[in-house]
Amino acid sequence: MALVTALKRLAHVRFGHYSLRTATAASGSYRTVQRSLTIGTQPLRSDNKVTVHFFNRDGEKITVKGPPGDSLLDVVINEDLDFDGFGACEGTLACSTCHLVFDEEVYKKLGPITDEEMDMLDLAYGLTDTSRLGCQICLTKSLEGMEVRVPESVADIRQSKDGSS
Ligand code: FES
Repeated sequence: MALVTALKRLAHVRFGHYSLRTATAASGSYRTVQRSLTIGTQPLRSDNKVTVHFFNRDGEKITVKGPPGDSLLDVVINEDLDFDGFGACEGTLACSTCHLVFDEEVYKKLGPITDEEMDMLDLAYGLTDTSRLGCQICLTKSLEGMEVRVPESVADIRQSKDGSS
């Protein structure tokens, strides 16, 4: 009995798929419908990702991509970028080691800065007018192609507090 039920379900699925293809092919819009059906089930394609050009502490340009919504700290971790000491507190706003410097044009697109980020940013070495913490900046399509500089020096406030340096 279970086999019959399974075969019926399989036939139903195949029939449904066939009907869709027939109907849409007849209307000449098969391609369009196929695309709309696959958007919800496909993983994010790489062309949906945001390109970021990092300049490391040596001035070397490193181009990577990350999905919208990921923070710049996520991108650094996921792409296994070797920025010494970067992201020491793992995005808990307790270190300022994720200090990044942006071009002014990009900086204006980054959204508001919280008091907590501002307090931690004040402790970063080499602070500029366009500095932010990478763990607080999330990728959006409007940031496509942005250039981000990793400052030469890094300060980890947690080490200063416990007396080590
Ligand atoms: S990773 Fe520590 S403040 Fe961003």
